[in-house]
Amino acid sequence: MKKETLLTGDRPTGKLHIGHYIGSLKNRVTLQNSELYNSYIMIADQQALTDNARNPEKIRNNLIEVALDYLSVGINPSKSTIFIQSQIPELNELTMHYLNLVTVARLERNPTVKSEIKERNFNMSIPAGFMIYPVSQAADITAFKANIVPVGEDQLPMIEQTREIVRSFNNIYKEDVLVEPRAILPKEGLGRLPGIDGKAKMSKSLNNAIYLSDEPDVIKNKVMSMYTDPNHIRVEDPGTIENNTVFIYLDAFCNEIDKLQEMKMHYQRGGLGDVKVKKYLNEIIQAELEPIRNRRKEYEKNLDYVYEVLKEGSNNARKITSNTLRDVRNAIGIEYFK
Ligand code: TRP
Repeated sequence: MKKETLLTGDRPTGKLHIGHYIGSLKNRVTLQNSELYNSYIMIADQQALTDNARNPEKIRNNLIEVALDYLSVGINPSKSTIFIQSQIPELNELTMHYLNLVTVARLERNPTVKSEIKERNFNMSIPAGFMIYPVSQAADITAFKANIVPVGEDQLPMIEQTREIVRSFNNIYKEDVLVEPRAILPKEGLGRLPGIDGKAKMSKSLNNAIYLSDEPDVIKNKVMSMYTDPNHIRVEDPGTIENNTVFIYLDAFCNEIDKLQEMKMHYQRGGLGDVKVKKYLNEIIQAELEPIRNRRKEYEKNLDYVYEVLKEGSNNARKITSNTLRDVRNAIGIEYFK
């Protein structure tokens, strides 16, 4: 059976946290180990530079952090190709060709880009590279002829944009040069984890994340300070589990379903204190993160190995992308010196 091709990636703007882990990393390892796919995992440093051009060292430093996070959660370089976006020049040429198939108005309609522009207060100073990054993302995906792209919900507009470019390209130049990808979303309930403060998004800038590399005492402090039900004041009071961060995390991490169900009922009835629930959650998160953190420390001692993995992954990735670029140039009719 021909394997499907899977591609996904992350911008290296910070270390990865348990939101990334629950929403995608864990699933990438499962998909990788199913051996049903050729998996490509990309560190999107160039995309990260579209709004960090004046701060390249931030991206350079976080690139290695993200690579360490990948390896320590179990992304295995002998099963998945891990590579660096900026090391694949073919992606840039593909982007240029695709830009001719996309209108400025279409770029301006992308809801994810729109909200990112707001968050960043660009006002009238949107970097052009930032505005077009969905097209560069289409190049990332199509360069590998990926048909499966596991991503969070916020990335659906990028996949839609990619599909439009593929249809348009195949329609204008030649059927079947490019492959239309489809997104796969996290399972119900395993989407975006809220921050420990209960805010919808876990992020570095909101200072509400638990990182994969956090030490045990840091994790414990974060869990013990988590947002719960603000009306659950005395232990005897009935509590709510909806929008209660501690229970949302328990749903994501706890494998003892019966015990969790019982706790939820007890909490809702009254008589179960927040501290007890938090202690239980702390135990579970500690158990899950300990082996990851330990592996990370081993890789940290051997950064030469990590860079070697990235280099080899990037070299292997280029073999694929240069074939696609040749097909694309042929289809457009600009391979003049064959
Ligand atoms: N935009 C993605 C993010 O912000 C990163 C990314 C870049 C990506 N290229 C990709 C994801 C290709 C999937 C496929 O997380």
